[in-house]
Amino acid sequence: MNLRIPSFEVYKSEYQKSVDNPEAFWSEIAQTFEWKKPWTNALSWNFNEPNVKWFEGGSMNITENMLDRHLEERGDQVAFYWEPNEPGDVAKTLTYKELHREVCKLANGLKSLGIEKGDRVCIYMPMTLEGIISVIACARIGAVHSIVFAGFSSNALADRINDAKAKLVITSDGLNRGTKQLDLKAMVDEALKQCDSVEHVLVHKHTHNDTNYTEGRDVDYQSLVDSMDDNCPAEAMDSEDMLFILYTSGSTGKPKGVVHTCGGYMIYTAYSFQNVFQYEQGDVFWCTADIGWITGHSYIVYGPLLSGATSVVFEGIPTYPDCGRFWAVCDKYKVNQFYTAPTAIRALMGAGLEFVTPFKLDSLKVIGSVGEPINDEAWQWYHREIGKDNCPVVDTWWQTETGGIMISGLGSHSPMNPTHAGYPLPGIQPVLLDQDGNEITENEVEGYLCVKYPWPSILRTTYGDHERCKNVYFSNYEGYYFTGDGAKRDKDGMYRIIGRVDDVINVSGHRFGTAEIEDAINTNQHVVESAVVGYPHDIKGQGIYAYVVVDSNEADTAIELSVCDSVSDGIGRIAKPDKIQVVTGLPKTRSGKIMRRILRKIAEGERANFGDTSTLLDPTVVESILEKAK
Ligand code: WTA
Repeated sequence: MNLRIPSFEVYKSEYQKSVDNPEAFWSEIAQTFEWKKPWTNALSWNFNEPNVKWFEGGSMNITENMLDRHLEERGDQVAFYWEPNEPGDVAKTLTYKELHREVCKLANGLKSLGIEKGDRVCIYMPMTLEGIISVIACARIGAVHSIVFAGFSSNALADRINDAKAKLVITSDGLNRGTKQLDLKAMVDEALKQCDSVEHVLVHKHTHNDTNYTEGRDVDYQSLVDSMDDNCPAEAMDSEDMLFILYTSGSTGKPKGVVHTCGGYMIYTAYSFQNVFQYEQGDVFWCTADIGWITGHSYIVYGPLLSGATSVVFEGIPTYPDCGRFWAVCDKYKVNQFYTAPTAIRALMGAGLEFVTPFKLDSLKVIGSVGEPINDEAWQWYHREIGKDNCPVVDTWWQTETGGIMISGLGSHSPMNPTHAGYPLPGIQPVLLDQDGNEITENEVEGYLCVKYPWPSILRTTYGDHERCKNVYFSNYEGYYFTGDGAKRDKDGMYRIIGRVDDVINVSGHRFGTAEIEDAINTNQHVVESAVVGYPHDIKGQGIYAYVVVDSNEADTAIELSVCDSVSDGIGRIAKPDKIQVVTGLPKTRSGKIMRRILRKIAEGERANFGDTSTLLDPTVVESILEKAK
């Protein structure tokens, strides 16, 4: 199934077609997939409720499109090259045939544990092939997977298990990340003290470290799979049945479970994968994300397999054993399309060219960026030193909620403008709105980025709380999906994403709500109150600055360590503040609202000119914060 657009000219006409008649446009593409039963209605939608249904009445199973349909033509083709954390350890490969077999066996294993269509399965795994097999095995039997990034703490894991009422957790004995190892099973054991929906824990032995074993609850992955049949018919799924839940942070409250459904997500991930990366049969694709994030879902698991692609899966980190690892892996597997995050590019750029020059990198055709705005210096370095001035950089803007890439160049077809994501993919209708919610139609403008028409992989709801989905995404501007991002449109109509306009901080491409971090900090026994803001950070894009009010005489350094521990416990080490300042009070208005604007400016390095501060209850608070500002 070749969905590739061959030129920019064709892009323009396809784009027009997709706007003139979206239903016909997507129906034509949907027909290239395998359906058990055709749909009766291509699209029904209403952004006020919100309610979006694509290919209603159609029945299919995404895994048949990822695996079974490829077996005849490319059963022996490699689906995944797995590269271990330790360069000297044994690398593995899985062909489509082998992957199909492993998925079927595990799917039968899940059934034997009582998992049925619609049940939720939490996956808390390192970057192993078994992690990917687990995801696909769930989809095979219609179980809803909820992958939790293995960097989240046991408390964060427990929250997600409880919200989804997961019946099963799939995990491993441990995880390798650079020089560090983490006992994932111990984290699960800890989390499950707070959860009662879980009946079994399936444990894959990866690091072979000793782990606790709870009789009757814990099941060994390999023994289970070994005893299973390798034939597992795929469950018939309605196009709008739930495929997965993925938790992501927003401005307020706990992370919410973004829900994606089967049919639309299938079509859009395959379509966007083939077009953005201009993947051709025989190419080797590498997305360095973790399967715990949406990028891993859409562009390690679903998009590539739906397209019959060969991909690299990497267990480790870019800086281990040294900063040349990414480039060594690119050369080793002759990677053609490479997809990573600006934070990694900036870190490797800082390490120096001596880590790049030993490598040829001559197989690369397209290099991609995702997760946060890429600054000009990093873009230029990536283009010059990695792409050898010869590969297009596809700066792909999208979100957990959008399911797939929304704004991006298409391989070498699209005009490039550094730091600009570029033009929308066919089927995507972005708009910029002003303060009052009016569409700004001219170019050379800036506004709130919204989308005015549904595309196949738009989120359908937030798990267990549809009202929240409506309030967060569809209420700010009636009739539009609101992204939470601000963007500019240049004279040529290309989009440049500025960043979040809400209380979400993007740290190394990971999303955290300021309220979520504050909640974790406030669990600290010494803390009375806290306020968290983002500030520009050279490597991470944004850093986390926490102001804390304490009722303790302990030294600031002791408080800082203790606050870091609270965040590690509540969310995970990835959300630890970069700067913590103990303050005597927070700047509040007379009505008790924290003036974050001032705190943000101080974190950004401003020391004066805070604008109108006349509504502050106690202006001296600002002076005292400034005295010790970091
Ligand atoms: C940001 C990641 C600028 C943006 C796929 C968005 C970007 C949030 C880009 C979603 C990009 C993602 N340029 N900003 N190319 N890609 N973002 O849900 O703020 O983890 O709203 O999805 O990341 O993050 P999420």
